[in-house]
Amino acid sequence: MPKMISRPAAGLTGRLSVPGDKSLSHRALMLGALSVGETRITGLLDGEDVLSTAGALRMLGADIDRGNDGTWSVHGRGVGGLTEPAGVLDMGNAGTGARLMMGILAGHPFNSTLTGDESLCARPMERVMSPLRPMGVAFEARTGGRLPVTVKGTDRLIPTRQVMTVASAQVKSAVLLAGLHARGQTTVIEPVATRDHTENLLAAFGAEIAREQTDEGLAITLTGQPELTARDVQVPGDVSSAAFPLIAALITKDSDVTVEGIGLNPLRTGLLDCLREMGADISIENPRELAGEPAGDLRAKGSSLAGITVPAERAASMIDEYPILAVAAACAEGDTVFEGVGELRVKESDRLSAIADGLTACGVSVEEEQDRLTIHGCDGPPPGGGAVEARLDHRIAMSFLVLGVAAEAPVSIDDGAMIETSFPGFAGLMNGLGAVLESDG
Ligand code: S3P
Repeated sequence: MPKMISRPAAGLTGRLSVPGDKSLSHRALMLGALSVGETRITGLLDGEDVLSTAGALRMLGADIDRGNDGTWSVHGRGVGGLTEPAGVLDMGNAGTGARLMMGILAGHPFNSTLTGDESLCARPMERVMSPLRPMGVAFEARTGGRLPVTVKGTDRLIPTRQVMTVASAQVKSAVLLAGLHARGQTTVIEPVATRDHTENLLAAFGAEIAREQTDEGLAITLTGQPELTARDVQVPGDVSSAAFPLIAALITKDSDVTVEGIGLNPLRTGLLDCLREMGADISIENPRELAGEPAGDLRAKGSSLAGITVPAERAASMIDEYPILAVAAACAEGDTVFEGVGELRVKESDRLSAIADGLTACGVSVEEEQDRLTIHGCDGPPPGGGAVEARLDHRIAMSFLVLGVAAEAPVSIDDGAMIETSFPGFAGLMNGLGAVLESDG
């Protein structure tokens, strides 16, 4: 349990790259494993979450190697071609890995059991099992629909047409990945649009995907049982990881930080809209395309921020960024209100309560309601000085270390180990910009 401390710092400056996009990394490995031929992936996130997915796919018969130059190679087994694993698939802390894998395993005619760490075993899986059951797959789960879960797959999945009841890219993706194995067309209808990396990559690997706006929402239709063809994927930097150094720069006077090569899928950039509304000096430079999606460099300079109300409709496009936005809000003038954020309670931790407790420990006043949070900004550096519980949650850990950079007194977290799940090298990169993050382990 490495305890970490973050000490107040002067202006942060520099250019950096952050690790690859976690969502795209899981999906690139999975689609590579379901393709025919060799998929080569550059920029893949070498974090523990993605390594868990790679480990599970290997146990299912895919041939996956990491070259010395960091390029990954996946020799796939084709759609429906994975084989029964010899043991339990341990997904570690990876919610995306576990849920998407359940969709894939639904379409394979054997039983497989998925488990995870303490945090993942506490997260709801019924939201994935419930739309998959009508396709003909059965599950056995722990009480409350928790992991470990046994998937009783079939090679006779029935295609489905369903309106999504939770705004979750993981649930949508699980249904699409199951639909990939079903004969015929599977349609998911999203009343609220969520990140569409699965659809984009499926199309890039040769699947037929159609999108249509309907009265019920965006209808995404996939034609099942295609032959997926291996292809090269260049994974951009993760906007959810870039958010930490960028917000550190915004809330620290005299800062100027550029994070290069970041994926800017429009369904992932709600944070940028919020920061602009708060008056942040943040800009996109060198716009380009990576992995078939918009990308660019993001540059942030120290700014005076003002509180805003973040509407519920924006939640899906910035769901992982609320903890770090809360830190920006703590430094802003006036109140910031997060509306319709109940989903934060079922992330790697109950993030609504973790944010509220952490801010309170750092001298920031907050009001926590069931699906809403109000943060009373300090109009400058917050007091800090708190000992914050990271609750086995990488984003809570990193957010409060960033708060320590801009606070009046150091902030400590009880355990920084989980940072490895999504952002290996976080402390070193932050310190390279002028932050002072120290670890005791
Ligand atoms: C993800 C979807 C989101 C997000 C997670 C990654 C994905 O989860 O929080 O970090 O890659 O599909 P939900 O689907 O639960 O909203």
